[in-house]
Formats: sequence, structure tokens, C-alpha cells
Amino acid sequence: MKISYQMVRQSEEIRTYITQADHSLSALGFTEHSFAHVTRCAEVAADILVQLGYDAHQQELARIAGFMHDIGNVVNRHDHAQTGAVMAFRILDKMGMEPADVAAVITAIGHHDDSTAFPVNPVAAALILADKTDVRRSRVRNKEHQSFDIHDRVNYAAERSDLSLDKDAGTITLTLTINTEFCAVMDYFEIFLERMLLCRRAAEHLSLQFKLVINGLALL
Ligand SMILES: [Fe+2]
Ligand SMILES: [Fe+2]
Repeated sequence: MKISYQMVRQSEEIRTYITQADHSLSALGFTEHSFAHVTRCAEVAADILVQLGYDAHQQELARIAGFMHDIGNVVNRHDHAQTGAVMAFRILDKMGMEPADVAAVITAIGHHDDSTAFPVNPVAAALILADKTDVRRSRVRNKEHQSFDIHDRVNYAAERSDLSLDKDAGTITLTLTINTEFCAVMDYFEIFLERMLLCRRAAEHLSLQFKLVINGLALL
């Protein structure tokens, strides 16, 4: 059976896990990982594959992986990619999704977390790019600037963030406008160097070059 993104988005079961996972991350002091984050990941991951000419089915699998990629946080932040992949296997199998499609989705989910991430296939590569580039002020929950941690500072400082793909030039560029009152460009690097290198590997898997522009400066 072909399981659509629409069916996944409307699943009360999946929505419950996304909500509960985000509650746990809120308690742990992490930035927003709720519907705003996962919907953005679903849309951006699919859009990358659309622009590169991948078929509609691959695009749909990227949307599903994007929407479900952080559900493992409901168990624990640690190893949430692997836990989330196992949860997604059970849910999608129960919904009647074909094994090859389940495999593509759980491969992408299981390979998205910073330390163990790897762009093993185009869906995984697109998910890594979508997830690691979601930097924005609205992800910060902490209202007290004094108690901002480095993740809060970096996200809060991001006044504008834009990911754009230029197929002819073979590039995918993350353009950020950072308010340096809240975060030095070096703070950004301290947190994001690993993620940006991951983006570079993911882009290479899609035969693209990853570029990073912060406040008009080309840094990668
Ligand atoms: Fe994650
Ligand atoms: Fe995520």
C-alpha cells in the first residue's frame, strides 16, 4: 500500500509522539522540535529532491521522513535517531507501507543525528540538509536573554535564514543574517561546524556544493 504524507500528517499516533517528544525536549531545555520544525524539514527535504528532478515517490518519502524524523526523542534524546527509526518501522509497517518504502524512511531517520549521521541515500541527504539548516529565532523557548545557552543565542541571533539551491551552478547555499549582539559568528561556528560539515557531505551525495554565507561573508 502507498502511504502518503497526508496520511502520516493526519495520524493521531504520530502526532502524539511528536508532541510528547517535544515536551521532553522542552523539559531538557532544547529548542523547538515540534510541528513547526518537522513540517519545515518535510517541506525543505522534499523541495531539494523536487528541484533536483527526483521522482514524486522519492519526494513523498522525504516528506514522510522529515515529518517523523524526531519522534525518537520521546524515548530519550540520546540515540533518538535510532530509536525513532525503530518506532517509525513499527508505525509504518502497521499502516501497511511497503517494505522498500519503510526501508527508505527508516534509513533516513536513523542517519540524521549529528554524531552518527550519514547521507546514505538521497532521502537521507535531503533530510540532513533540511534538519541541520533549520536555524531561526522562533525555535528559542527561553524568554530570559540572561540565561540563554549557546544554542539559544545562535538560534535567537538568526534573524533571517534561507536555503537556496541553484541547479545550474550545482550549489546549495545557506544564507544567514545573524544579529551579532546576541551571538558572535564564532559562537555559530562552535556549534555548527560539525553540522555544516555534515551538510557538505550531504550536498556532495546529491552532487551539489554546500555554501554558507553569514552576514554577507562567504564562509564555506
Ligand atoms: Fe533529530
Ligand atoms: Fe530535527
